[in-house]
Amino acid sequence: LDSADLTGKKIVISAGATQEKIDPVRFITNHSTGKMGFALARAAMLRGGQVTLVAGHNSCEPITGIKTIDVSSADEMRSSIINESESADIIIMAAAVADFKPSAVSENKIKKKNLNDMSIALSKNPDILKELGEKFDDKKTIVGFAMETEDLIKNASEKCVNKNVDFIVANNLKTTGAGFGTDTNVASLIDRYGNISELPLMDKFELSNIILDKALSINKSK
Ligand code: PMT
Repeated sequence: LDSADLTGKKIVISAGATQEKIDPVRFITNHSTGKMGFALARAAMLRGGQVTLVAGHNSCEPITGIKTIDVSSADEMRSSIINESESADIIIMAAAVADFKPSAVSENKIKKKNLNDMSIALSKNPDILKELGEKFDDKKTIVGFAMETEDLIKNASEKCVNKNVDFIVANNLKTTGAGFGTDTNVASLIDRYGNISELPLMDKFELSNIILDKALSINKSK
């Protein structure tokens, strides 16, 4: 491993979970702890990269020496990512972004007596990775993740094509040692040309270096 092979490159990485407010008390979120994205950020920094970490809610220790932007909702994550990506070489979306948010955020705590039908209207969040693929694909290396519970390779391959990204890191929540909260992951790298590399169980830090190796092997004309 050339320990400084990311020198001169800016890498934007997202990590953690977004939180979508329902009212001042409640929100919609997911189980991401940020471990995957923080491992990527640490690995990229140790290889000499200039890293910006856009961090949703997480349970990780801050990384000294890395520019970290804390965000809460998908909308906030989107604006920080798009902003930081203008000057980036490599963008990696490891965050678990909520696909939906409550259509309206109640200013006050929703009282039980006011809930007639006991349902919350939802609207779609922006698809940040898709927007990155539309805006920056010709100039920047874009890496997405796919979190699946079935048909991992098929669903992840579709995400790679639909979101127009260089490759997808696919992980299955149901595989032991993979996914949310663990220090390890089991992932397959699936690129836009249909190449599939199924990796064994390994530490998230080790996987991060393999992801960065593949990202570096992709040359985009600047
Ligand atoms: O944080 P940990 O506890 O370590 O867990 C790691 C992880 C499981 C969160 C990580 O490995 C992972 O799989 N991250 C992606 C989770 C996810 O949202 O997957 P998805 O298949 O729903 O989304 C596909 C891709 O689009 C992802 O790169 C996601 O960041 C992105 N996306 C999704 C929805 C959305 N509205 N905007 C997006 O940009």
